[in-house]
Amino acid sequence: MDTTAKTTSLLLLMVLSFLGLGVAQNVTQRGAGILNVGAILNLQSLVGKIARTSILMAMEDFYEVHRNYTTKLVLHIRGSNGDNIQAASEAVDLLENYSVRAIIGPQKSSEATFVSDIGNNSQVPVISFTATNPALLSSNVPYFLRATLSDAAQVKSLAALIKAYGWREVVPIYEETDFGRGIIPYLVDALQEVGVSMPYRSGISQSANSDQVEQELYKLMTMQTRVYIVHMSSTIGSILFTKAKELGMMSDGYAWILTDGMANIINSISPLVLDAMDGALGVRFYVPKSKELGYFTTRWTMRYKQDNPNDPPTEPSIFGLRGYDTIWTLAQAAEKVSMINAISQKQQQRKNSTCLGTLGMSTIGPKLLDAILQHKFKGLSGDFDLTNRQLQFSIFQIINVVRSESKEIGFWTAKGGIHRNLNQNGYKDTYLNSIPDLSPVVWPGEANIVPKGWQFPTYGKRLRVGVRTSGYPEFMKVERDPVTNVTTATGYAIDVFEEVLKQLPYAIPYEYVAFDNAQGVSHGTYNDFVYQVHLGVRNFGSPI
Ligand SMILES: *[C@@H]1O[C@H](CO)[C@@H](O)[C@H](O)[C@H]1NC(C)=O
Ligand SMILES: *[C@@H]1O[C@H](CO)[C@@H](O)[C@H](O)[C@H]1NC(C)=O
Ligand SMILES: *[C@@H]1O[C@H](CO)[C@@H](O)[C@H](O)[C@H]1NC(C)=O
Ligand SMILES: *[C@@H]1O[C@H](CO)[C@@H](O)[C@H](O)[C@H]1NC(C)=O
Ligand SMILES: *[C@@H]1O[C@H](CO)[C@@H](O)[C@H](O)[C@H]1NC(C)=O
Ligand SMILES: *[C@@H]1O[C@H](CO)[C@@H](O)[C@H](O)[C@H]1NC(C)=O
Repeated sequence: MDTTAKTTSLLLLMVLSFLGLGVAQNVTQRGAGILNVGAILNLQSLVGKIARTSILMAMEDFYEVHRNYTTKLVLHIRGSNGDNIQAASEAVDLLENYSVRAIIGPQKSSEATFVSDIGNNSQVPVISFTATNPALLSSNVPYFLRATLSDAAQVKSLAALIKAYGWREVVPIYEETDFGRGIIPYLVDALQEVGVSMPYRSGISQSANSDQVEQELYKLMTMQTRVYIVHMSSTIGSILFTKAKELGMMSDGYAWILTDGMANIINSISPLVLDAMDGALGVRFYVPKSKELGYFTTRWTMRYKQDNPNDPPTEPSIFGLRGYDTIWTLAQAAEKVSMINAISQKQQQRKNSTCLGTLGMSTIGPKLLDAILQHKFKGLSGDFDLTNRQLQFSIFQIINVVRSESKEIGFWTAKGGIHRNLNQNGYKDTYLNSIPDLSPVVWPGEANIVPKGWQFPTYGKRLRVGVRTSGYPEFMKVERDPVTNVTTATGYAIDVFEEVLKQLPYAIPYEYVAFDNAQGVSHGTYNDFVYQVHLGVRNFGSPI
């Protein structure tokens, strides 16, 4: 966080400490309590819209199943517009004017930095199911919980993939935000462990226009590395891939790997952009298929269409599922806390009806936090367990974008590494340049050959290979196209040479330079010919 942001955050905290939090539970005649919960999302963004539909459905579904519960959550949804200050001021408003006892969200990692401080200061749990920056979780801020994985969890799977294909260098392309930058130190470590270097890091501003993206891509083209890890949200990622396709970087020889940022919502990305992404690989959270999930997805899709009539159809994605599970956890925890509270309150004198809060503090905060941490269950998104204040490592799925659709090609687990099927234990480790055990990948340019990941820069020099017609044309025969002047060479020596080049772990663009004149007559003896290498002659056009 930079200093201005920190100052603003401190100011907000000072404002906050003067606020008194009002009565938390509105006890109605039937004895049912109310626990106010704030949700801070970027309602303009795809993930925000997905999350909104999901948490609203979760509220309805939960109380449909638990009709006799005595404490009900009341949800207050706020838009942050993707702005840190807006998110923070919504949080203060929710605490001051709506007495919220828990906050869901915020969506972005940078917003979470602000909101988690504010929540922590009032002992109000803040649960984000989208903010993945590893730095967010600190023992200093115990009231911040992460109902998703930290980005530190997926770097090992990325490193395994890169090692499995025998690539030696990668360039990460990331957005210049807390989310984008957060993964880099972990990625560096994971790659170092498998002996892969990172010659350059390409940070792209979140608000970059397509000209700026184009400039950065041109820069990447002049470098040798042809393997890119794309760690960004879909907004800027869409511009990146559209431009990369335009510039010919979604073609033979290039490899692109998406992180969770785009891979998790791959099926919600517009078909036009997906088309540009053909051949990319991706690593995303794995959600086990279940009957409940299928049924939920159908209902969710209809509901999303109602909520967003003008938007293209989409899928709940991992974010929608985790949002749904978060509400279920919170609703269970609220019920548990209110029971404890009811009992302890009866034991105390009843005179103090307003003694629920000290100044600016949620007195039920510690109990609510404990109840959330202890509630483990099998949710729609898989095992939901916040014991360690964030979800623990699960399984990553590896995907390949093929003809504008995502194809599941395998899995990565900490124990088994990369393998095609989940229940298979045979895989140990891949050897250099062997093909890992994954379903066949279609690479950019519809290529079937694994990109070498390394190439002399497009604008760089080619390797000049001197050739001359041998007395035995079976060994080497040189011909020059009279129109284009392109030299071609054939024969045994040439076959051996080209086969050796194919075996190299990187690609070398080359051209043949003939030591013959236009009539096909050699400029000199074989010894003269070899001596040209020592002389560093560029072409043999002039007679010797
Ligand atoms: C309590 O809830 C009822 C019904 O939801 C509402 O009419 C009333 O204004 C609330 N009271 C307070 C103090 O919030
Ligand atoms: C609600 O009902 C279920 C079974 O019908 C029961 O097990 C549970 O204890 C009840 N909860 C409350 C708070 O009454
Ligand atoms: C709380 O509500 C009052 C009255 O609507 C408003 O003036 C105030 O700005 C709100 N507080 C915050 C922090 O937004
Ligand atoms: C967060 O809250 C805990 C307990 O209430 C407190 O010990 C800690 O200092 C707070 N952290 C910050 C950064 O304010
Ligand atoms: C009522 O609350 C006040 C302030 O929280 C406290 O000082 C006082 O002891 C409480 N009274 C009783 C009878 O619990
Ligand atoms: C081919 O070489 C000849 C003679 O060096 C030259 O006149 C001609 O322009 C060249 N053609 C091309 C297409 O470069």
